[in-house]
Amino acid sequence: MAEACKCAPGSAPGRPENILVTGGAGFIGSHTCVALLSTGYSVVIADNFSNSSPSALDAVRRITGRDLVFYETDVTDASAVRRIFSENRIDGVIHFAGYKAVGESVEKPLSYYRNNLLSTIVLAGACVEHGVPRFVFSSSATVYGDNKPPFVESMPLLPAANPYGETKAVCEKILADTVRSCSGFSASLLRYFNPVGAHESGLLGEAPNGIPNNLMPYITRVAKGELKELSIFGNDYDTPDGTGVRDYIHVMDLAEGHIAALRNAPCGLSVYNLGTGKGTSVLQLVTAFERATGVSVPRRIAARRPGDIAVCYADAGKAERELGWKTHRTIEDMCRDSWRFEKNRCV
Ligand code: UD1
Repeated sequence: MAEACKCAPGSAPGRPENILVTGGAGFIGSHTCVALLSTGYSVVIADNFSNSSPSALDAVRRITGRDLVFYETDVTDASAVRRIFSENRIDGVIHFAGYKAVGESVEKPLSYYRNNLLSTIVLAGACVEHGVPRFVFSSSATVYGDNKPPFVESMPLLPAANPYGETKAVCEKILADTVRSCSGFSASLLRYFNPVGAHESGLLGEAPNGIPNNLMPYITRVAKGELKELSIFGNDYDTPDGTGVRDYIHVMDLAEGHIAALRNAPCGLSVYNLGTGKGTSVLQLVTAFERATGVSVPRRIAARRPGDIAVCYADAGKAERELGWKTHRTIEDMCRDSWRFEKNRCV
């Protein structure tokens, strides 16, 4: 058997109970920990706080009333990861930890390839070595590149426009090959569309360091008066109002998608879009935000952002059919919850 695969051959992943969540203090990771703990799973988090802070862990504990095991660890460090697997009985891994800023990935490709690929190799290796049957990977709709939306899982992946996107595509390949080499090891590749929103308590949300790159955190900071105005990157796209269209998904819907994947994904390799299947333009999102919160968002039209595509939205049918999961929260919920968190957030 190749590479010391200790996963029981042909074994079903079963229902995992103790989940290692890498990047569990980050935006999507922390909300997924809330969903896991609220559904009865136990959680071990590994995070090095490179783009997050310990306050997210306090919020997870406060919201769920449950404790968790935490390692301040860089998951590219194979010996540190080995220690986590030997000190805990791990039934499954959800791997969020990774660099995710598109522009930065163009400036620092080696850091992106090193961090994102190595962490996946180390974690998949630890699963194979310790017989952990279930791996869930944080992928991105960016792997569809220039395909024509709606994006369907069966589409061939096109070269990504930037190193960040390329790392997601290569990690998918690494996991697919690992599944092929080790029967009993299963991986679900979850391709996220545009996660926004926050936990409805207002205690947990997206808090990027510095000036945000993404649309929703930029809108909330303009609404708060911390930034002067929103630049809308292009109004001459081939879309109904000329601004870019995306499939925004509430982060708690996304978090629940991970539980559905843990429970219902078949053995072997599986791939799912996690999106709503609906496109919303930049202008529609800004208007929805103003309506949902009653706060106005000063804006101006600016040049297109290099690398942006006009339209991106999911065919969300496969996840509904196979995982029994679909989104429930509306654009208004996303705006209201993002704003509640932003208002609470200390600078
Ligand atoms: C980006 C990444 C994507 C990543 C995702 C994480 C790119 C090309 N893609 O997606 O790989 O997985 O973030 O959430 O960066 N916009 C403005 N003004 C702003 C910010 C954004 O008009 O200040 C527009 C953009 O042009 C786009 C839409 O808002 O049409 C959404 O942008 P953003 O939130 O950055 O997400 P994506 O670019 O779709």
